[in-house]
Amino acid sequence: MTADPSPSSSSAAAAPSVKGVARALSQHHRAVVGFLFGFFVILVLYTTASGQFGTTNTIVALRSTPAEQNARTSPPPPPPPASSSAPNNNSAQGAVHDMENGKKDEAAKTMGQVRIEDKNVPGTEMNKTIDNVQTNRTDLSSQTVNEASDRMEEELIRQELGQDGDKNESNVKHGAPPKPVCDLSDPRYDICEISGDARAIGVNRTILYVPPTAERGADGQEWAIKDQSRKYLEYIEKVKVKTLSAAESLVAPECTSQHAVPAVVFAMNGLTSNPWHDFSDVIVPLFITARAYDGEVQFLVTDLQPWFVDKYRLILANLSRYDIVDFNKDAGVRCHPRIVVGLRSHRDLGIDPARTPRNYTLLDFRMYIRDIFSLPPDGLGIPYKEANKNASGGVDGGTGKRKPRLMLINRGRNRKFVNIPEISAAVQAAGFEVVVVEPRRDLRLEEFSKAVDSCDVLMGAHGAGLTNFFFLRTDAAMLQVVPWGHMEHSAMIFYGVQAKEMRLRDVEYSITAEESTLYEKYGKDHPAVSDPESIHKQGWQLGMKYYWLEQDIRLNVTRFAPTLHQVLRTLQE
Ligand SMILES: *[C@@H]1O[C@H](CO)[C@@H](O)[C@H](O)[C@H]1NC(C)=O
Ligand SMILES: *[C@@H]1O[C@H](CO)[C@@H](O)[C@H](O)[C@H]1NC(C)=O
Ligand SMILES: *[C@@H]1O[C@H](CO)[C@@H](O)[C@H](O)[C@H]1NC(C)=O
Ligand SMILES: *[C@@H]1O[C@H](CO)[C@@H](O)[C@H](O)[C@H]1NC(C)=O
Ligand SMILES: *[C@@H]1O[C@H](CO)[C@@H](O)[C@H](O)[C@H]1NC(C)=O
Ligand SMILES: *[C@@H]1O[C@H](CO)[C@@H](O)[C@H](O)[C@H]1NC(C)=O
Ligand SMILES: *[C@@H]1O[C@H](CO)[C@@H](O)[C@H](O)[C@H]1NC(C)=O
Ligand SMILES: *[C@@H]1O[C@H](CO)[C@@H](O)[C@H](O)[C@H]1NC(C)=O
Ligand SMILES: *[C@@H]1O[C@H](CO)[C@@H](O)[C@H](O)[C@H]1NC(C)=O
Repeated sequence: MTADPSPSSSSAAAAPSVKGVARALSQHHRAVVGFLFGFFVILVLYTTASGQFGTTNTIVALRSTPAEQNARTSPPPPPPPASSSAPNNNSAQGAVHDMENGKKDEAAKTMGQVRIEDKNVPGTEMNKTIDNVQTNRTDLSSQTVNEASDRMEEELIRQELGQDGDKNESNVKHGAPPKPVCDLSDPRYDICEISGDARAIGVNRTILYVPPTAERGADGQEWAIKDQSRKYLEYIEKVKVKTLSAAESLVAPECTSQHAVPAVVFAMNGLTSNPWHDFSDVIVPLFITARAYDGEVQFLVTDLQPWFVDKYRLILANLSRYDIVDFNKDAGVRCHPRIVVGLRSHRDLGIDPARTPRNYTLLDFRMYIRDIFSLPPDGLGIPYKEANKNASGGVDGGTGKRKPRLMLINRGRNRKFVNIPEISAAVQAAGFEVVVVEPRRDLRLEEFSKAVDSCDVLMGAHGAGLTNFFFLRTDAAMLQVVPWGHMEHSAMIFYGVQAKEMRLRDVEYSITAEESTLYEKYGKDHPAVSDPESIHKQGWQLGMKYYWLEQDIRLNVTRFAPTLHQVLRTLQE
């Protein structure tokens, strides 16, 4: 992972000072590893600047081929349209048009950004994974906009499914077989697609393409890509994709099994085990990449995580009707009519409908998840209203009226609420039922999803527990408590924006310094307490240490009460 200050990149040229930042960041990377034991760190560098921390405009040019650099010479795009959820057409033109909007939207997330999530309670099977990966949880990814990349992806998707999602297999199979393509141009992910004679050899992490006789060349071609949605994640091992030459084709390993359906090869390790990453890095990208096959696709999973397969079994079983293959251990030569290596991803925990085969939105994704977990269909009101409908006199009348229910998620390690009983009492005093939960990684989603669905409000400190918002009903509320230290921007881009897109009510409560345990620990005059800006100016790792890792929350329930009342009013609307 190197920052490349090459001036041929327009991004770098636009802000020379930023190169230093990029270099400093990569230097700090190592230094920081030590104290991050047990935590996930994702450092996301966006291409242009607006500044969550209001300090540094961060622009990073990643090492790229000359061709990629050329493709990046378009100027930084303008700020995003206010609404990015405009409906899109499936027509090619509509898609291209909207793709450009989506692209601007994505590029507009424009600041240096540090994100950390703690790891949930590890299960026994996780020891190996934890030992192997937890010391390095740093991911640099550039949001460089690349028009060529979008076009190419559009082309790939069209090839894959037909423009309108028509699954006419004969169209796919009998045309001129497209050449195997590895597209390395997207800033977030790499992807390869092989159509025709594709052979997968799991133990060798290799996918071979044997071209038709007429198309065989003297030389083959070879790529190696990380088969998940974050192309710069260090600890995902690459998968080799190889087009065989004429000579190699003659001695290609024979198929040991023939399959009628396409395969998708992807990694299940990486930052998974934190629910936000489970969804943002794997499940949503898998949905984007594989949903349109309607289950007629097989997953060949590198670095398979049994806990992940178990936890998300309903989702995985819907996306693919076929057994999941533990690809690392698979010694056979699997032949498929099409093999996709890698997972597409559009943004953090998000979907750009114009870039999906069937214009899926994140709202569609929430509905899909609810469907899979057999939660009540959309159209039902939020639970307390629904329950009160049958009471005499409707929502506002009748006796034994059910109060809105609030699920209070408490984090295990950091950013936890230290005065839960007091908060619970305040929530009840404001007119809610309260359910306090401390989600563990091994919780059973079949039951937990129903518990969330039965709530009208999901409340928690900024962090992965809020990812359970997928199980809420339309018009239910997410109440996000934003810790001390200028974390409002993170709160919005990782949860708030998504909640709104998914037609949930989004309410944030930003705590004061006095409500942070940093206040007790360091006193009111310590800069971490009195001047977060000055902390962020000293480099992202210091902000991380104080605000993401060290801080817990003692909510001032007096100050918090009006927010609870606001949520209540919002629900009643
Ligand atoms: C997606 O396209 C279909 C028609 O192809 C349309 O019915 C649907 O409303 C569109 N959805 C969105 C969110 O644009
Ligand atoms: C979709 O395409 C049709 C015809 O191609 C057009 O009339 C319609 O306005 C488009 N809708 C959107 C939302 O772009
Ligand atoms: C996992 O680690 C814990 C603590 O280090 C240890 O007690 C436990 O035996 C380990 N489990 C396995 C399966 O290795
Ligand atoms: C962690 O990073 C260091 C330095 O960047 C590297 O040498 C080491 O192999 C990495 N460890 C893992 C588990 O990726
Ligand atoms: C599939 O495509 C072929 C050739 O384009 C066409 O002849 C056939 O009727 C199509 N089948 C279906 C079910 O649409
Ligand atoms: C896997 O790679 C090894 C070493 O390159 C090779 O000997 C073996 O034939 C490969 N396996 C298959 C099934 O091709
Ligand atoms: C997946 O879920 C959808 C409903 O969202 C259902 O129609 C479809 O049959 C399911 N597919 C499989 C393979 O279970
Ligand atoms: C309300 O009444 C309808 C029709 O009588 C019934 O189908 C529904 O299950 C009831 N809902 C609740 C929450 O009792
Ligand atoms: C709690 O908030 C109230 C209202 O903002 C304020 O008057 C009070 O001083 C706060 N209490 C503490 C302990 O900070």
